[in-house]
Amino acid sequence: MRAIGIDIGGTKIAGAVVDELGTIVAHDRRPTSATDTQLIEDTVVEMVQHLTAGELAKGEQIAAVGVAAAGFIDASQSTVYYAPNISWRNEPFREKLERRLEVPIIVENDANAAGWAEFRFGAGRLVSDMVILTIGTGVGGAIVSGDRLFRGGFGAGAELGHLRMVPGGLPCGCGAHGCIEQYGSGRALLRIAGELADAGGIGRELAALRTRDGGLTGLHVADLVQAGDPGALSAVRTLGGWLGQACASLAAVLDPQLFVIGGGVAQSGDVLLDPIRAAFLEHLPARGYHPESEFAIAELVNDAGVVGAADLARHYAGAV
Ligand code: BGC
Ligand code: NA
Ligand code: ZN
Repeated sequence: MRAIGIDIGGTKIAGAVVDELGTIVAHDRRPTSATDTQLIEDTVVEMVQHLTAGELAKGEQIAAVGVAAAGFIDASQSTVYYAPNISWRNEPFREKLERRLEVPIIVENDANAAGWAEFRFGAGRLVSDMVILTIGTGVGGAIVSGDRLFRGGFGAGAELGHLRMVPGGLPCGCGAHGCIEQYGSGRALLRIAGELADAGGIGRELAALRTRDGGLTGLHVADLVQAGDPGALSAVRTLGGWLGQACASLAAVLDPQLFVIGGGVAQSGDVLLDPIRAAFLEHLPARGYHPESEFAIAELVNDAGVVGAADLARHYAGAV
Protein backbone atom coordinates (compact mmCIF):
# COMPACT_ATOMS: atom_id res chain seq x y z
CA MET A 1 0.00 0.00 0.00
CA ARG A 2 1.02 3.57 -0.55
CA ALA A 3 2.05 5.80 2.33
CA ILE A 4 2.57 9.52 2.77
CA GLY A 5 5.88 11.00 3.83
CA ILE A 6 6.14 14.57 5.12
CA ASP A 7 9.52 16.26 5.65
CA ILE A 8 9.54 19.42 7.75
CA GLY A 9 12.40 21.83 7.17
CA GLY A 10 13.04 25.29 8.62
CA THR A 11 11.57 27.13 5.61
CA LYS A 12 9.51 24.57 3.69
CA ILE A 13 7.55 21.36 4.11
CA ALA A 14 7.76 18.65 1.47
CA GLY A 15 5.13 15.93 1.18
CA ALA A 16 4.74 12.92 -1.08
CA VAL A 17 2.73 9.79 -1.71
CA VAL A 18 5.25 6.96 -1.97
CA ASP A 19 4.70 3.40 -3.16
CA GLU A 20 6.26 0.16 -1.79
CA LEU A 21 9.28 0.51 -4.08
CA GLY A 22 10.11 3.96 -2.77
CA THR A 23 8.79 5.69 -5.88
CA ILE A 24 7.11 9.06 -5.45
CA VAL A 25 3.71 9.06 -7.16
CA ALA A 26 2.49 12.51 -6.07
CA HIS A 27 4.08 15.42 -4.26
CA ASP A 28 3.43 18.77 -2.66
CA ARG A 29 5.63 21.50 -1.20
CA ARG A 30 4.68 24.51 0.93
CA PRO A 31 6.51 27.29 2.77
CA THR A 32 6.57 27.32 6.57
CA SER A 33 8.19 29.03 9.52
CA ALA A 34 10.60 27.48 12.00
CA THR A 35 9.15 29.50 14.88
CA ASP A 36 5.41 29.04 14.25
CA THR A 37 4.63 25.51 15.41
CA GLN A 38 0.88 26.01 14.90
CA LEU A 39 1.50 26.93 11.26
CA ILE A 40 3.66 23.80 10.88
CA GLU A 41 0.87 21.63 12.28
CA ASP A 42 -1.81 23.26 10.10
CA THR A 43 0.34 22.93 7.00
CA VAL A 44 1.05 19.23 7.64
CA VAL A 45 -2.68 18.59 8.11
CA GLU A 46 -3.55 20.43 4.88
CA MET A 47 -0.88 18.60 2.92
CA VAL A 48 -1.97 15.16 4.16
CA GLN A 49 -5.61 15.97 3.36
CA HIS A 50 -4.68 17.23 -0.09
CA LEU A 51 -2.47 14.24 -0.93
CA THR A 52 -5.00 11.75 0.47
CA ALA A 53 -7.87 13.28 -1.53
CA GLY A 54 -5.81 12.92 -4.70
CA GLU A 55 -5.20 9.22 -3.96
CA LEU A 56 -8.83 8.53 -3.05
CA ALA A 57 -9.84 10.06 -6.37
CA LYS A 58 -7.58 7.48 -8.05
CA GLY A 59 -9.12 4.69 -5.95
CA GLU A 60 -5.97 4.25 -3.79
CA GLN A 61 -5.81 3.98 0.01
CA ILE A 62 -3.13 5.46 2.24
CA ALA A 63 -1.65 3.01 4.79
CA ALA A 64 0.00 5.54 7.11
CA VAL A 65 1.70 8.91 7.37
CA GLY A 66 5.33 9.34 8.41
CA VAL A 67 6.33 12.82 9.52
CA ALA A 68 10.06 13.55 9.46
CA ALA A 69 11.01 16.27 11.92
CA ALA A 70 14.39 17.85 12.68
CA GLY A 71 14.55 17.07 16.37
CA PHE A 72 15.01 14.62 19.23
CA ILE A 73 12.04 12.22 19.08
CA ASP A 74 10.80 9.91 21.86
CA ALA A 75 10.71 6.10 21.71
CA SER A 76 6.98 5.97 20.96
CA GLN A 77 7.59 8.15 17.88
CA SER A 78 5.10 10.72 19.14
CA THR A 79 6.74 13.60 20.92
CA VAL A 80 9.51 15.91 19.78
CA TYR A 81 11.49 16.37 23.00
CA TYR A 82 13.51 19.23 21.57
CA ALA A 83 14.49 20.75 18.24
CA PRO A 84 17.64 22.90 17.99
CA ASN A 85 16.46 24.83 14.92
CA ILE A 86 12.62 24.71 15.23
CA SER A 87 10.57 25.92 18.23
CA TRP A 88 9.39 22.49 19.44
CA ARG A 89 9.79 21.76 23.16
CA ASN A 90 8.13 18.56 24.38
CA GLU A 91 5.76 18.87 21.44
CA PRO A 92 3.09 16.10 21.43
CA PHE A 93 3.11 16.25 17.67
CA ARG A 94 1.62 12.86 16.84
CA GLU A 95 -1.30 13.35 19.24
CA LYS A 96 -2.07 16.75 17.76
CA LEU A 97 -2.03 15.37 14.22
CA GLU A 98 -4.07 12.29 15.16
CA ARG A 99 -6.82 14.54 16.49
CA ARG A 100 -7.17 16.01 13.03
CA LEU A 101 -6.37 13.12 10.68
CA GLU A 102 -7.87 9.65 10.41
CA VAL A 103 -4.81 7.63 9.47
CA PRO A 104 -1.98 6.02 11.48
CA ILE A 105 0.82 8.55 12.03
CA ILE A 106 4.39 8.27 13.24
CA VAL A 107 6.87 11.03 13.91
CA GLU A 108 10.43 10.23 12.87
CA ASN A 109 13.70 12.12 13.08
CA ASP A 110 14.39 13.69 9.66
CA ALA A 111 17.89 12.26 9.32
CA ASN A 112 16.71 8.81 10.43
CA ALA A 113 14.11 9.00 7.64
CA ALA A 114 16.73 10.07 5.09
CA GLY A 115 19.16 7.40 6.24
CA TRP A 116 16.51 4.72 6.05
CA ALA A 117 15.61 5.78 2.50
CA GLU A 118 19.26 5.54 1.43
CA PHE A 119 19.57 2.14 3.10
CA ARG A 120 16.45 0.75 1.43
CA PHE A 121 16.54 2.40 -1.98
CA GLY A 122 19.71 4.45 -2.40
CA ALA A 123 23.44 4.54 -1.74
CA GLY A 124 23.25 2.03 1.14
CA ARG A 125 21.15 -0.69 -0.44
CA LEU A 126 24.04 -3.19 -0.65
CA VAL A 127 25.30 -2.92 2.96
CA SER A 128 24.02 -4.02 6.37
CA ASP A 129 25.79 -1.33 8.42
CA MET A 130 25.82 2.30 7.39
CA VAL A 131 25.88 5.76 8.86
CA ILE A 132 24.46 8.84 7.17
CA LEU A 133 25.35 12.42 7.95
CA THR A 134 22.95 14.95 6.45
CA ILE A 135 24.57 18.32 5.94
CA GLY A 136 22.03 21.13 5.82
CA THR A 137 21.08 23.88 8.27
CA GLY A 138 22.07 21.38 10.96
CA VAL A 139 23.95 18.11 10.86
CA GLY A 140 21.64 15.10 11.08
CA GLY A 141 22.58 11.49 11.60
CA ALA A 142 21.22 7.99 11.25
CA ILE A 143 22.71 4.62 12.06
CA VAL A 144 21.71 1.37 10.39
CA SER A 145 23.32 -1.54 12.23
CA GLY A 146 22.67 -5.15 11.21
CA ASP A 147 19.94 -3.99 8.78
CA ARG A 148 18.08 -2.16 11.56
CA LEU A 149 17.61 1.50 12.30
CA PHE A 150 19.22 2.33 15.65
CA ARG A 151 17.13 4.41 18.03
CA GLY A 152 18.74 4.16 21.47
CA GLY A 153 17.08 3.65 24.83
CA PHE A 154 14.84 6.71 24.78
CA GLY A 155 14.28 6.88 21.02
CA ALA A 156 16.47 9.92 20.57
CA GLY A 157 19.75 8.23 19.63
CA ALA A 158 21.73 8.85 16.45
CA GLU A 159 21.79 12.61 17.02
CA LEU A 160 25.20 12.59 15.40
CA GLY A 161 25.21 16.35 14.80
CA HIS A 162 25.75 16.82 18.50
CA LEU A 163 28.95 14.84 18.84
CA ARG A 164 31.38 17.11 20.61
CA MET A 165 34.35 17.98 18.42
CA VAL A 166 35.80 20.96 20.29
CA PRO A 167 35.78 21.10 24.11
CA GLY A 168 34.55 24.58 25.06
CA GLY A 169 33.84 25.29 21.38
CA LEU A 170 31.07 27.23 19.66
CA PRO A 171 27.65 27.24 21.34
CA CYS A 172 25.10 24.95 19.65
CA GLY A 173 21.31 25.18 19.32
CA CYS A 174 21.11 22.04 21.47
CA GLY A 175 22.46 23.93 24.50
CA ALA A 176 25.90 22.28 24.48
CA HIS A 177 29.19 23.60 23.08
CA GLY A 178 31.53 22.43 20.34
CA CYS A 179 29.12 20.10 18.49
CA ILE A 180 30.01 18.95 14.96
CA GLU A 181 26.84 20.81 13.84
CA GLN A 182 28.71 24.07 14.49
CA TYR A 183 31.70 23.00 12.35
CA GLY A 184 30.26 20.76 9.65
CA SER A 185 26.79 22.12 8.72
CA GLY A 186 25.63 24.34 5.86
CA ARG A 187 25.51 27.21 8.32
CA ALA A 188 29.05 26.47 9.42
CA LEU A 189 30.11 26.50 5.76
CA LEU A 190 28.78 30.05 5.43
CA ARG A 191 30.57 31.08 8.59
CA ILE A 192 33.87 29.57 7.44
CA ALA A 193 33.50 31.13 3.97
CA GLY A 194 32.76 34.49 5.60
CA GLU A 195 35.83 34.23 7.82
CA LEU A 196 38.00 33.45 4.79
CA ALA A 197 36.57 36.44 2.97
CA ASP A 198 37.25 38.66 6.02
CA ALA A 199 40.84 37.47 6.11
CA GLY A 200 41.28 38.71 2.50
CA GLY A 201 43.70 37.28 -0.04
CA ILE A 202 41.58 34.37 -1.09
CA GLY A 203 37.88 34.48 -1.76
CA ARG A 204 37.63 37.96 -3.26
CA GLU A 205 34.54 36.82 -5.16
CA LEU A 206 33.02 35.69 -1.88
CA ALA A 207 33.68 39.09 -0.35
CA ALA A 208 32.07 40.86 -3.32
CA LEU A 209 29.00 38.63 -3.20
CA ARG A 210 28.59 39.28 0.49
CA THR A 211 28.47 43.04 0.08
CA ARG A 212 26.50 43.04 -3.18
CA ASP A 213 23.64 40.79 -2.12
CA GLY A 214 23.71 41.55 1.58
CA GLY A 215 24.84 38.11 2.63
CA LEU A 216 26.23 34.80 1.47
CA THR A 217 23.84 31.94 0.88
CA GLY A 218 24.41 28.24 0.38
CA LEU A 219 23.67 28.75 -3.32
CA HIS A 220 26.39 31.38 -3.64
CA VAL A 221 28.94 29.05 -2.10
CA ALA A 222 27.74 26.12 -4.24
CA ASP A 223 28.05 28.25 -7.41
CA LEU A 224 31.52 29.41 -6.41
CA VAL A 225 32.56 25.83 -5.71
CA GLN A 226 31.38 24.87 -9.21
CA ALA A 227 33.35 27.77 -10.65
CA GLY A 228 36.47 26.64 -8.77
CA ASP A 229 36.68 29.75 -6.56
CA PRO A 230 39.64 29.19 -4.21
CA GLY A 231 37.86 30.70 -1.19
CA ALA A 232 34.78 28.54 -1.58
CA LEU A 233 36.88 25.43 -2.21
CA SER A 234 38.95 26.11 0.86
CA ALA A 235 35.79 26.56 2.98
CA VAL A 236 34.41 23.23 1.74
CA ARG A 237 37.76 21.54 2.50
CA THR A 238 37.70 22.87 6.05
CA LEU A 239 34.15 21.60 6.47
CA GLY A 240 35.12 18.20 5.07
CA GLY A 241 38.06 18.00 7.46
CA TRP A 242 35.77 18.34 10.46
CA LEU A 243 33.27 15.84 9.09
CA GLY A 244 36.00 13.31 8.30
CA GLN A 245 37.31 13.50 11.86
CA ALA A 246 33.79 12.92 13.15
CA CYS A 247 33.48 9.87 10.88
CA ALA A 248 36.75 8.45 12.23
CA SER A 249 35.38 8.61 15.78
CA LEU A 250 32.07 7.17 14.64
CA ALA A 251 33.91 4.27 12.97
CA ALA A 252 35.48 3.42 16.31
CA VAL A 253 32.01 2.99 17.78
CA LEU A 254 29.89 1.75 14.88
CA ASP A 255 32.31 0.23 12.36
CA PRO A 256 30.04 0.86 9.35
CA GLN A 257 30.84 -0.48 5.88
CA LEU A 258 29.62 2.80 4.42
CA PHE A 259 29.25 6.47 5.31
CA VAL A 260 26.64 8.29 3.24
CA ILE A 261 26.85 12.08 3.05
CA GLY A 262 23.51 13.72 2.33
CA GLY A 263 21.71 17.05 2.60
CA GLY A 264 21.98 20.13 0.41
CA VAL A 265 25.71 20.65 0.93
CA ALA A 266 26.44 17.10 -0.33
CA GLN A 267 25.56 18.37 -3.83
CA SER A 268 29.18 19.54 -3.99
CA GLY A 269 30.04 15.86 -4.55
CA ASP A 270 33.71 14.91 -4.58
CA VAL A 271 34.74 18.42 -3.61
CA LEU A 272 33.26 17.61 -0.20
CA LEU A 273 33.82 13.85 -0.20
CA ASP A 274 37.58 13.98 -0.90
CA PRO A 275 38.52 16.02 2.20
CA ILE A 276 36.11 13.96 4.32
CA ARG A 277 37.80 10.74 3.17
CA ALA A 278 41.29 12.19 3.68
CA ALA A 279 40.55 13.33 7.24
CA PHE A 280 38.83 10.03 7.98
CA LEU A 281 41.86 8.00 6.90
CA GLU A 282 44.21 10.28 8.81
CA HIS A 283 42.28 9.99 12.07
CA LEU A 284 40.90 6.45 11.89
CA PRO A 285 41.87 4.50 15.04
CA ALA A 286 44.08 1.50 14.16
CA ARG A 287 44.67 3.08 10.78
CA GLY A 288 46.45 0.88 8.32
CA TYR A 289 45.00 -2.19 10.02
CA HIS A 290 41.34 -1.32 10.51
CA PRO A 291 39.18 -1.99 7.42
CA GLU A 292 38.30 1.30 5.75
CA SER A 293 34.66 2.33 5.37
CA GLU A 294 33.48 3.45 1.94
CA PHE A 295 32.09 6.95 1.41
CA ALA A 296 29.23 7.89 -0.93
CA ILE A 297 27.04 10.87 -1.67
CA ALA A 298 23.34 10.26 -0.96
CA GLU A 299 21.39 9.22 -4.05
CA LEU A 300 17.88 10.35 -3.17
CA VAL A 301 18.97 13.95 -2.63
CA ASN A 302 15.93 16.08 -1.69
CA ASP A 303 13.49 13.16 -1.66
CA ALA A 304 15.20 11.03 0.99
CA GLY A 305 13.20 12.46 3.92
CA VAL A 306 9.75 11.90 2.43
CA VAL A 307 10.61 8.49 0.96
CA GLY A 308 12.12 7.20 4.22
CA ALA A 309 9.35 8.61 6.42
CA ALA A 310 6.70 6.98 4.22
CA ASP A 311 8.50 3.63 4.20
CA LEU A 312 8.99 3.59 7.98
CA ALA A 313 5.35 4.58 8.54
CA ARG A 314 4.17 1.77 6.27
CA HIS A 315 6.26 -0.72 8.24
CA TYR A 316 4.90 0.48 11.59
CA ALA A 317 1.35 0.34 10.31
CA GLY A 318 2.00 -3.30 9.40
CA ALA A 319 1.11 -2.70 5.75
CA VAL A 320 4.44 -3.78 4.27
C1 BGC B 1 18.80 18.08 15.04
C2 BGC B 1 18.49 16.74 14.47
C3 BGC B 1 18.25 16.83 12.97
C4 BGC B 1 19.38 17.58 12.29
C5 BGC B 1 19.16 17.75 10.81
C6 BGC B 1 19.89 18.76 14.24
O1 BGC B 1 20.10 20.03 14.74
O2 BGC B 1 19.21 17.94 16.39
O3 BGC B 1 17.37 16.20 15.11
O4 BGC B 1 18.16 15.54 12.46
O5 BGC B 1 19.54 18.85 12.87
O6 BGC B 1 17.96 18.42 10.52
NA1 NA C 1 18.93 10.89 13.83
ZN1 ZN D 1 24.63 20.48 19.60
